[in-house]
Amino acid sequence: MAIQWYPGHMTSARKKAAETMASIDVVIEVLDARLPEASTNPIVRELRLHRQRPCLKVLNKADLADPEATKAWIDYYNQQDGVKAVALSSKNHGEVARIPALCQRLAPHRNDNIKQLRMMIMGIPNVGKSTLMNALVKRKIAKVGDEPAVTKSQQMHQISVRHSITDTPGLMWPKIEYPSDGLMLAASHAVGRNAIIDEEVAVFLAGLLLDRYPVLLAERYGFSVEGIDAVAVVEGVAKRRALRMRGGEPDFEKASSVLLQDYRDGKLGRISLETPATRRVMLDTKTKLPAVVE
Ligand code: G4P
Repeated sequence: MAIQWYPGHMTSARKKAAETMASIDVVIEVLDARLPEASTNPIVRELRLHRQRPCLKVLNKADLADPEATKAWIDYYNQQDGVKAVALSSKNHGEVARIPALCQRLAPHRNDNIKQLRMMIMGIPNVGKSTLMNALVKRKIAKVGDEPAVTKSQQMHQISVRHSITDTPGLMWPKIEYPSDGLMLAASHAVGRNAIIDEEVAVFLAGLLLDRYPVLLAERYGFSVEGIDAVAVVEGVAKRRALRMRGGEPDFEKASSVLLQDYRDGKLGRISLETPATRRVMLDTKTKLPAVVE
């Protein structure tokens, strides 16, 4: 299954973002710490390199991610030119308060009392841009919600006399190149519900958890995962939660929703769906999706 989702308003959002890029100093790119590269929109990089703008990569939802994987990602991004990375939870206002100073370091030429530092928040839907924005401006200005693409128009806000920030809508990209990225995004709920098939996503997630976090899986659902496959994990969840269909068969659909929701809510523990090392292996072995589907 190829997961593709590119509503019409995204095209105008991209155009508007390109315009705003011309008049800002630093891009704050919000990523999901559990899947930083899969939640990276190549359009953001393209737009900011075109204008040569530095970038603070915010690995958000770090409270849900595996700390070891997050550390590896921070090292990975800090090696890139014009990039600094920070891991945090946008729900933690103390951590968010560090952002203006980190951005200031990326634009030393704006570090005086005359010129304002102009920042711009970018990222795909549901990575936590609105939550971050609200924490930065210390009031509720953006609509925050778990449905992707809730923030739809651009707004500029004054954080202090020296810092301003522009909010952009969640930017999806026309084509997700790698199928596993689509599945990771769907598992983390960054693509719209209507574009995904829960059961396939749940089997993908179960396979990944079996491989990398078998102990967390066994602890959460209370059955041994040794020697079983991803489908059996979902069936096991159905049995454990007494999710049965009329004929008594395990209800695979409901169990898939339970597994996905538990992962999204962090109930399985701190989990990262990819690390720099697993990403490298994926890129070495996987082929890109064929034609563009819009
Ligand atoms: P967006 O603007 O990028 O689309 O994302 P938004 O801020 O709407 O956040 C999407 C969901 O992610 C929200 O959940 C939000 O609370 C949650 N979230 C944002 N940042 C963090 C974080 O650092 N850690 C965790 N654990 N969650 C985060 P929601 O279910 O819609 O709302 P809520 O009930 O959690 O408030």
